[in-house]
Amino acid sequence: MKLSSFLSFALFGAKTILLRKKEPILGTVIVTDKCNLRCKHCSVNNITAVIHPYEQIKSEMRQLYDMGVRILFFCGGETFLWRDGELTLRDLVIEAKRMGFLIVNVVTNGTFPIDLPEADLILLSLDGDRERHNEIRGDTYDTIMENIRNATADNICFYMAINQINKNTVRDVCIAARDTRNVRAVSFNFHTPYPDTRELALSKKEKAECCETIKQMIKEGAPVFNLKSAFPYLIENKFPTPCHQCVVIENGKVSVCGRCIDVPGLCEECGYFFVAEYTLLFRGNPKIIFEMLKTYLRYI
Ligand SMILES: C[S@@+](CC[C@H](N)C(=O)[O-])C[C@H]1O[C@@H](n2cnc3c(N)ncnc32)[C@H](O)[C@@H]1O
Ligand code: SF4
Ligand code: SF4
Repeated sequence: MKLSSFLSFALFGAKTILLRKKEPILGTVIVTDKCNLRCKHCSVNNITAVIHPYEQIKSEMRQLYDMGVRILFFCGGETFLWRDGELTLRDLVIEAKRMGFLIVNVVTNGTFPIDLPEADLILLSLDGDRERHNEIRGDTYDTIMENIRNATADNICFYMAINQINKNTVRDVCIAARDTRNVRAVSFNFHTPYPDTRELALSKKEKAECCETIKQMIKEGAPVFNLKSAFPYLIENKFPTPCHQCVVIENGKVSVCGRCIDVPGLCEECGYFFVAEYTLLFRGNPKIIFEMLKTYLRYI
C-alpha cells in the first residue's frame, strides 16, 4: 500500500472513531448475478442473470466514489463472466484505478483464466480440500488450481466460507494458501444462513473450533488475512451490525453493508468477518486497530 493511501485511511479512521461518523469507505459493485456455478451455500446467483453494461457500472463506481468510498470491490455472480463488447473485467479494474479508488479488489470463483495484475487483491473462493470444495462448488478444484498456477500476478487471496460441509478443512486451505505460488493469504467467513441454506450454519461451538484451528495455523506461519481479536465476537455473533462504512450497489440500488440487509433477521446471524472487523475497528477497539494495521500492511 502506498504511504499516501495509508495516511488517507488513517485520517478517515480517526475522524470516524472520534466523531462517530457513518460515512462509507468500502464499496462493492455487483457487475452481474449471472454465474457458471450453483454452489450449495449460495443464494445470490442467477436471480436475473443480467450482465450490467459498462456505462452503468462506471456511473455506479462514480456514485460510490462521490460518497467517499476509496476501497472498491467487484463482486457477482461470477465477475469474470462480465463483458461489454470488447471490454472485460480488467477494463473495469483499470477504470476504477483511473477514477481514484485507492484499493481495487475482485471476488471470483477462479474457474476462468486469471489475468488481472492491476487488481490489488483477487479474492478467490476455495471452499476446502479438493473433496469438500467440489462437493460445494461442483468439479472445479483442479481447474482453479491450474488457473492460479498460470495467473499473471501474485495478487490472489483465498476466500473460504466455512459451513457444515467444509468445517473440518480449514487447515487444508491454510496450508494451500501458504504453499501455492501466486497466493498471498487466506481470508475466512462463516456461513451466513439465508432462509434457503440454514442447514449449513455452524453452531457457536463449531465456530469456536474453527477459530482455534485458524489461530493454531497462524502460529504455524499460515498467512491469514483476518483479525484474531475479532474471533470472540464472531463466535458469539456479538458485533454491531450492519457496517455503516460499507455499501453495495447492484443495478442502481445502494444498500448499507450488504445486499443481504433486506433479509429479515439475517444481520443477527451474520458470518462475514469483514463486518465484525470493520464495525469493531470504527468503534475504536484498540486491539482491532493495532492488528488491522499489522495485517493490512502485510498483505496489501
Ligand atoms: C457470492 S460470491 C460472488 C463471487 C464469486 N462468484 C465467488 O464465488 O467468489 C462471493 C463470496 O460469497 C461467498 N458466499 C456465498 N454465499 C454465502 C453465505 N451464505 N455465507 C457466507 N459466504 C457466502 C462465496 O463463497 C464467495 O466467496
Ligand atoms: S460461484 Fe460465487 S456466485 Fe456463483 S454460485 Fe458459487 S458462490 Fe454463488
Ligand atoms: S451485517 Fe447484515 S447486511 Fe451486513 S453482511 Fe451481515 S447479514 Fe449482510
